[in-house]
Amino acid sequence: MKKVITYGTYDLFHKGHFNILKRAREYGDYLIVGVTGENYDIGRGKLSVHDSLAERIENVKNTGLVDQIIVEEYLGQKISDIVKYDVDTFVIGDDWRGKFDHLSRYCNMVYLERTKGISSTQIRQENFTTYDVGIVTDLKDDNNFISESKLVNGFNVACVYAADDELKKEFTQRYNLKQSFADYSELVENSDIVYVRTKINNRSRYIEEAIKQGKHVISDPPFSLDASEQVHLYNLAKEHNVILMDNIKMVHIHVFNQLLWMTQGGLIGDILSINCSISREDKSRNNILFDLLSLALVPILKIQGQDFKNLKINKTYGTEGMEFVSLFFEYENSNAIINVGNSIRVDNQLEIIGTKGTIRSKGKWWRGNYFEVEKTDADHVEVYNTNYAGNGFKYLLKAFSTMLANDRIDSMGVFEDESIKIAEIMEKVNN
Ligand code: CTP
Repeated sequence: MKKVITYGTYDLFHKGHFNILKRAREYGDYLIVGVTGENYDIGRGKLSVHDSLAERIENVKNTGLVDQIIVEEYLGQKISDIVKYDVDTFVIGDDWRGKFDHLSRYCNMVYLERTKGISSTQIRQENFTTYDVGIVTDLKDDNNFISESKLVNGFNVACVYAADDELKKEFTQRYNLKQSFADYSELVENSDIVYVRTKINNRSRYIEEAIKQGKHVISDPPFSLDASEQVHLYNLAKEHNVILMDNIKMVHIHVFNQLLWMTQGGLIGDILSINCSISREDKSRNNILFDLLSLALVPILKIQGQDFKNLKINKTYGTEGMEFVSLFFEYENSNAIINVGNSIRVDNQLEIIGTKGTIRSKGKWWRGNYFEVEKTDADHVEVYNTNYAGNGFKYLLKAFSTMLANDRIDSMGVFEDESIKIAEIMEKVNN
């Protein structure tokens, strides 16, 4: 018996899929189809998949062409599958031509011509709601927003507004945007979602105007250095039934959520201390310390909560403004220390000490790429990691699109009360 194997996502099953399965079958007597698992797709940044794994499997099964369905769960699995199922021929569409030549050591390798004029991507684009996103900025770069938004269904970044004409022109050209506006209100009018990417001092007025026009907002955090303003903006968003979301990406990245799961679920015992530091040198943004501080506050507020008994703040100023800030939180049975520097360098790291173990993440820990756990009673270190390209904006946008689809306006990434607490702490630091 000759065995054939082929793989795919088979999202929104279409005739191109049917054709390739039919032709693949002709290469043998037994056809195995590997359908990509959800984690595998998320891990490789394919966030646009619409159908669930169960639905995609069902559609492949319903063709009646397939003898066995397996789930593709990790990079490199294809080789183990070929060996495990004793496969004779590997078939794949010619969009992959050349990419799988190394498999010819294990079995016959066949690339088949794709059916012309159809793809899951095309069906998704034609059939699902697309939201126009406008960016308001006073910074030259887009924080990867545009490239990452292309990896998620339903976002079309169409226009920009910047108070500075030169910057607006540069930004429009650089990111190849269709439109730029002379007026912020025009940008708001022409967008369904506004991404506020400005320095702190301007954020809240841009957010307020967008919300009042019934538009959803994603903003770099905090929205304001005045906590009552943050509360006001959330209330306004509720009144207008729109989403107001902090651009804090780590909470949407699954490795960071595993870290929270471990600490909140008591897997390293009771938390004794959290030490968290970030620094970045950016002379053009003297308020960047606040941006960094909002990231540093997230793990502490999520793990130790908001009921600290005491907060001590030490600030250091240089010629460019605040260069360093150190926060010491005293909780009932634990403490937390944050060190944030602009110009003054500290090693980026997050360390969580529990009674039964310690969690550490070094480097850009807020990217949620990896952390290690050293349990007191174990003689080895467990490593949790994920690899993804870019800065993780796509995961935030995926969460945003889920909220839109579910008609929810309250984010479960950074909860509203956490976001307000962050602003309250910022206000204290600023005073
Ligand atoms: N395929 C094909 N003809 C098409 C579309 C897909 O022969 N018009 C083949 C692919 O080459 C692959 C299999 O079907 O061997 C599964 O492809 P998949 O990536 O799931 O489908 P696409 O429509 O290409 O999906 P997307 O647009 O998300 O990349």
